[in-house]
Amino acid sequence: MGRGRFISFEGGEGVGKTTQIGRLAAFLRERGIDVVVTREPGGTEVGEAVRGVLLDKSLPAMHADTELMLMYAARVEHVERLIRPALEAGQWVLSDRFADASHVYQGVGRGLDPARIEALDDWSLRGFAPDRTILFDMPVEAGMARVRSRGATDRFEEETLAFFERVRQGYLDRARRFPERFVVIDAAREIDEVTRDLIRVVSSWLS
Ligand code: TMP
Repeated sequence: MGRGRFISFEGGEGVGKTTQIGRLAAFLRERGIDVVVTREPGGTEVGEAVRGVLLDKSLPAMHADTELMLMYAARVEHVERLIRPALEAGQWVLSDRFADASHVYQGVGRGLDPARIEALDDWSLRGFAPDRTILFDMPVEAGMARVRSRGATDRFEEETLAFFERVRQGYLDRARRFPERFVVIDAAREIDEVTRDLIRVVSSWLS
């Protein structure tokens, strides 16, 4: 059994990542692939506790560096305790967000210096990265409408449209910067159409 594959899924709020990951996992399992579905921030007991702090809007505003380091603290736990062992056991790991989210939300969104994020990334992950990243892209307004229809919002979902516009452009820029890793999927279409596209893309990696 070879090493499994690590695929991360990115995009703004309300793009339908979670639904699409669930559908892809079902498709892969039908083909006999052992799949682990996980998320960031989170994925481990400690990581989920850190997620609770990060998304809690009843807490006072935190410094952007604190937010960044909490994201990476949860990520180290995720990589060392869950992702790396799963890959070594031959499993495929599908993660709802990974480090690109920090470069985009904390870097482009909050305006932190990209070089400092790179430094923290290098220090904590030592080059570990997804094999492939799927970016679900759609207009910000449409995604926010979906978020609002879900009810209660978290600390990030309270951000302004301008913030989410920066996030959207930040992700598209990152996809252009790492074209060998990223695939961009138009998520503004009907949900089944998006799934068909996703499965077509991932199927081409199966052989
Ligand atoms: P989710 O809504 O996709 O579960 O993600 C939780 C929020 O955390 C989302 O608004 C994006 C944000 N986030 C960051 O700001 N930086 C990160 O590194 C990660 C993983 C998520």
